[in-house]
Amino acid sequence: MKKERDNFSSKLGFVLATAGSAVGLGNLWRFPYLAAKYGGGIFLLTYLILAVTFGFTLMITEVALGRRTRLSGTRAFASLDRRFGFVGYLTFIIPLIIFPYYCVIGGWVTKYLTAFVSGNMKAATGATYFTDFISANTSPIFFMLFFLAITCIVIIMGVQKGVEKVSTILMPLLIIMIIFICIFTMLQPGACEGILYYLKPNFADFSASTVLAALGQLFYSMSLAMGIMITYGSYMKKNDDLESSVTQVELFDTAIAFLAGLMIVPAVYVFSGGDQSAMNSGPGLMFITLPSVFQSMKFGSFIGAFFFILVFFAALTSSISLMETLVSMIDDRFHTGRRKTTIGVFLFAIIFGIPSSLGFGAWSHITIMGYSILDFWDFISNSVLMPISALLTCIFVGFIVKPRFIIEEVESSGNFKRKALFTIMIRYIAPICIVLILLCGLGILTI
Ligand code: PHE
Repeated sequence: MKKERDNFSSKLGFVLATAGSAVGLGNLWRFPYLAAKYGGGIFLLTYLILAVTFGFTLMITEVALGRRTRLSGTRAFASLDRRFGFVGYLTFIIPLIIFPYYCVIGGWVTKYLTAFVSGNMKAATGATYFTDFISANTSPIFFMLFFLAITCIVIIMGVQKGVEKVSTILMPLLIIMIIFICIFTMLQPGACEGILYYLKPNFADFSASTVLAALGQLFYSMSLAMGIMITYGSYMKKNDDLESSVTQVELFDTAIAFLAGLMIVPAVYVFSGGDQSAMNSGPGLMFITLPSVFQSMKFGSFIGAFFFILVFFAALTSSISLMETLVSMIDDRFHTGRRKTTIGVFLFAIIFGIPSSLGFGAWSHITIMGYSILDFWDFISNSVLMPISALLTCIFVGFIVKPRFIIEEVESSGNFKRKALFTIMIRYIAPICIVLILLCGLGILTI
């Protein structure tokens, strides 16, 4: 007998689980610094417009593809046209590459969480604390394992009892915490100027690269092009309104990114005395600058602990979506069962996560194309494979199965208000945007 496919129990379950995937380090760390760098308010506006056009189109395409075929990425494409089966495999390889190194970073977050919660803020703000930690041999691996093990437990519990349940608890908590920290940092002396710096449109900083940075960020932030949305769509109930669900996920994701900026930019601005380069320090912003900002605040250890719990929740729900997608794809293809498949993916992640972790310590002499091991995987997945997978999806939907295929699915459960926009976007505008992202990511085009 054919096994019933797992389902999210309700529309809210789908929205929160999908938002759980979308809201991650991209929102909390990357968005604020991009907004600060690319003209504040004008970046926010650009991002918003792109989210309801470009982001909306790609997300609804993936979710509808999953729901209509009731299959995850690997088989969804092949089931519609064998020639495009390889796109399915591409959407499998991407989370396979990302998941192990995402767990390494999840381990770093866990380390800071434990340091702040156990009252060790002083140590955690030492000048070399971060580099000492990530370059050690065993400790980051231990924290990675811990983070990975929690993800595994949730996946073994299943779609409704694991993924959905955890998201419906953590996502509302995440909102409350972010609003709380926002209010706190906005009340800091001198924060007004920082808020202005974040929100005021600075037209001089606006250029084509603002649009491109916003596009790239959107892509990553909405967990597109890696099979996640197809898988989650395949768990969505047939009668839940697809368009409004996708809109709600986007709103959630964008709101959290916006609030993250309000929480971080003014605080860093005040702390650094208006020095813009403080915003621009890559991973250092989250693991070096922010801990120092907390230390300089009243009740800083408390706020810092709160902050890292929040980041931990965000990273965990994203990592859950990566692992769920992998397990679902393998199980759809080989019928290996949830438990066995999860254990297999767990072992795989350990084996591939360890080199990424050691790449900052014992194996730091190993570089690939000038990148550390973790950064190399990040480059290959985000800058190369994801745009290619998204481009092929657009071509597949736009010209092979035709936009009607998606429109019918959306209309089977409600109105499709942005139908005309969707059709033009998927066929013409989205592919052009994606090619630009790809060329810039590869360094072929500089704007
Ligand atoms: N969308 C997540 C973010 O904004 C990133 C992510 C990457 C999520 C990979 C899942 C998988 O941070």
